[in-house]
Amino acid sequence: MANTLIVYFSKSGHTKSIAQQIAQEISAPLHEITTQKTYPGSYVMTILESRREFKHNDKPALTSEPIADFSSYDRIILGFPVWFFTCPMAVVSWLEQYDFTGKEIYPFCTSGGSSCAKASAKIRELCPNANVHDGIKANTIDKARISEWLK
Ligand SMILES: Cc1cc2nc3c(=O)[nH]c(=O)nc-3n(C[C@H](O)[C@H](O)[C@H](O)COP(=O)(O)O)c2cc1C
Repeated sequence: MANTLIVYFSKSGHTKSIAQQIAQEISAPLHEITTQKTYPGSYVMTILESRREFKHNDKPALTSEPIADFSSYDRIILGFPVWFFTCPMAVVSWLEQYDFTGKEIYPFCTSGGSSCAKASAKIRELCPNANVHDGIKANTIDKARISEWLK
């Protein structure tokens, strides 16, 4: 049985609620990626800010606590909203903090329609020594889908 950690970034709560459902279903700990900056309340202003981050490869500083005993986890479930067809820069900031050698990474996203494909490719690039599974779009999730996904 894999030792699993669920990590997520969520601006407006959708990804958080899916991460919480997964955590409850598989009884795994949850870790939220939080940023020093507060993203704007408005959707349009967040679009502008995240576009600026992508353009300048600006990785936001994080305020999330470092994960104790990170090496003890062999499976990382990583959730985020799709931003500009990929994962937000806050996820990049987080991925750069750890060594994922030998770990299994299971990405999931929530989105307005876009898939997780581009984000999964980016995570593979950032974590070349991990086994990064194809991400799933999970705007909703249930017990059956979770067990099929992680089997
Ligand atoms: C800055 C920004 C960029 C977005 N880009 C996309 C996108 O490229 N494709 C898409 O389907 N949805 C996009 N969305 C919608 C979010 O992915 C979607 O609302 C997501 O479920 C929000 O998750 P959260 O509540 O956990 O933040 C974007 C939203 C924001 C704020």
